[in-house]
Amino acid sequence: MSNRVYIKTVGCQMNVLDSEMVIADLKRHGYTVVDSADQADCVLYNTCSIREQAEEKTYSALGIIRQEKEKDPSKVIGVMGCMAQKDQELVFKRAPYVDLVVGPGQLHTIPTLLDKVRGGEGRQMAVSLGRKSGSQLEIARSHETFDPLRDPTMRPTPFQAYLRIQIGCDKFCTYCVVPNTRGPEQGRAPEQIYAEAKILAEQGAKEITLLGQTVNSYRFKHEDGTVTDMASLLEQLHDIDGIQRIKFVTNYPKDMTERLLETIRDLPKVSPYLHVPAQSGSDEVLKRMKRGYTVADYMAMMERIERILPEAAISSDFIVGFCGETEEDFQKTVELVKRCRYKNSFIFQYSVRPGTKASERLEDDVPRVVKSRRNVELLAVQDAIAKEDNLKLVGTTVEVLVEGPSKKGVKNDEGDHIIQMIGRTHCDRIVVFDGNRRQAGQFMSIHIDDASSHTLVGRVKTVEVVSIGSLV
Ligand code: 5AD
Ligand code: SF4
Repeated sequence: MSNRVYIKTVGCQMNVLDSEMVIADLKRHGYTVVDSADQADCVLYNTCSIREQAEEKTYSALGIIRQEKEKDPSKVIGVMGCMAQKDQELVFKRAPYVDLVVGPGQLHTIPTLLDKVRGGEGRQMAVSLGRKSGSQLEIARSHETFDPLRDPTMRPTPFQAYLRIQIGCDKFCTYCVVPNTRGPEQGRAPEQIYAEAKILAEQGAKEITLLGQTVNSYRFKHEDGTVTDMASLLEQLHDIDGIQRIKFVTNYPKDMTERLLETIRDLPKVSPYLHVPAQSGSDEVLKRMKRGYTVADYMAMMERIERILPEAAISSDFIVGFCGETEEDFQKTVELVKRCRYKNSFIFQYSVRPGTKASERLEDDVPRVVKSRRNVELLAVQDAIAKEDNLKLVGTTVEVLVEGPSKKGVKNDEGDHIIQMIGRTHCDRIVVFDGNRRQAGQFMSIHIDDASSHTLVGRVKTVEVVSIGSLV
């Protein structure tokens, strides 16, 4: 039997990492990876549930794959990730040609379940327990972190890697489906994280990005009762030779403590870049979202960051049009963006998610056109700020880790000549410059000549040669 697998991933970095892990696992089980669904014996969709639109896109992609299945009924179609956990049997109802449904806490079952489907045992499903479907321990155990051996060829670049330090979320923001789909918050043991980071370094990773839904709330309680928190974990990982940058996403404002900020300041490898979603600038809205802080608390956190890490770049997420959001509430969000001067913000229109508190108790009463208008308005404010701040960097020199050709570079790449390359600064700013493919994975100094709201444009800084005597 031929074993060709194709995986399509949508959603957050956690999904990207899950796909990397699943593919590495399947390769160890004899599978080879192909670039398109039509070449594959097994097609896996790694899905997202954060907004309705993400789910609808997946269901329509599944509708298209149906034709492939009709041409070749032996082709196995699998749905994994958050939508699998949330919809469970509903996936089979809405897309009857799906063979496999696997939640994010059950990814280790995929090779066995694929064997069962292909062995003629019919549809298979592996999902974790719901948040009220058992004891705390049973629920937590049913959501397993999946971090098998790493395979650098599975990543877009071998010198950058995601590393999971935490799964799940216990914050239960009223709009959010993640605590249901990814289960209780569980920190991974620091020894495991350290061992994985060492392997990544040996494989050539120069930059690691630590992943967790509320990554700075990371805690691991050891058997002797002592606790490793985020600051101690960063201190441990900082020792690893080869790793030169450590980033982490996503942060929860309330847990951005002075101790953590001081640790970031004192560890040069840790990027002074903090993604700390505010979600709204109105206390009334924050209360209905059950975010657990007020605008004053958030601003106190910004003041701590400014004092301890004055060079840090901050980014945020916002939801516009949440239940009951008035024009006045929205203007408070605009004000917050202006006060915080974020490097960038991701702005989303509120989408009702079944199973969340907001869907049960609050009315989705902001019309779609109003959500859309607020989205555009907030984005314009954010982009203008980002452009102003980026322009201040013109004339300076920044150090980037070169990632590879930019989209434009890929398009114009006809061989080994000068193309547009893309890199990122320690603060996560995107920089484009003319270079060549061999520079990927290197740290380079780039002189900035121009800037837009999302990108800095520069050129490789030539090293000044000071001549000592005559060389002739
Ligand atoms: N509707 C719109 N945006 C949402 N997010 C989370 N849940 C929803 C929802 N129901 C946004 C939040 C979060 C980001 C990952 O997605 O801003 O930080
Ligand atoms: Fe969702 Fe809130 Fe948890 Fe973030 S902190 S994953 S928004 S519940």
